[in-house]
Amino acid sequence: MAPLIQIIVGSTRPGRFADKPLAWLVDRLGARDDLELEVIDLRDHPLPLYDLAVPPARALRDYPDEAVAGLGRTLDRADGYIVVTSEYNHGYPASLKNALDHVFPELNRKPVAFVGYGNVGGARAIEQLRLVAVEFEMAPTRYAVHILPDVLLPAMRDDPFTPEVFAPLDSRLELLVGHLVWWAEALAAARSVS
Ligand SMILES: Cc1cc2nc3c(=O)[nH]c(=O)nc-3n(C[C@H](O)[C@H](O)[C@H](O)COP(=O)(O)O)c2cc1C
Repeated sequence: MAPLIQIIVGSTRPGRFADKPLAWLVDRLGARDDLELEVIDLRDHPLPLYDLAVPPARALRDYPDEAVAGLGRTLDRADGYIVVTSEYNHGYPASLKNALDHVFPELNRKPVAFVGYGNVGGARAIEQLRLVAVEFEMAPTRYAVHILPDVLLPAMRDDPFTPEVFAPLDSRLELLVGHLVWWAEALAAARSVS
């Protein structure tokens, strides 16, 4: 069975740019037969600012709040993740950090790859997320997609929008996905025996 890859959309603000790279990812990855695709939009998982009495690393899926439990069950299904991240003040968005902090075992021993955008292609946000991923016992991939201003600005202006505006990044996405699927399959096999 093909691994389930979830695309997690980090930005939740109205009018977010994130919807454009998301549409491109769904367009390019939706028809592949080496993975199953699911979109996890954090807008669909509104959470309070983190206030759990017991940290998720210790609660082990026993959450007091149905919203958190629902997010946990959703993330639990995946074999790997692609996080789509904006960059706010040289970091990744608080909406993403807040969601991540609410879970823990669901992410353990799974790979994660990143698609970022901004003045430096979200590189600073992605580097920070890689550090965070290690604490979640995840395997962050080397390959990321960085949407730099040469593509970002035309994409922002593109009206009506077409995923083709991101075509210059198709080969980079192909590399990312190839590595992510390899890790997803390898770690799923490893998780199944220990
Ligand atoms: C609070 C804030 C801080 C920002 N800081 C950065 C930054 O450090 N680097 C960058 O490249 N873009 C920065 N931007 C511009 C964002 O890249 C741009 O607004 C982008 O559309 C945000 O992604 P989103 O629309 O999907 O939320 C910032 C935007 C906001 C709202």
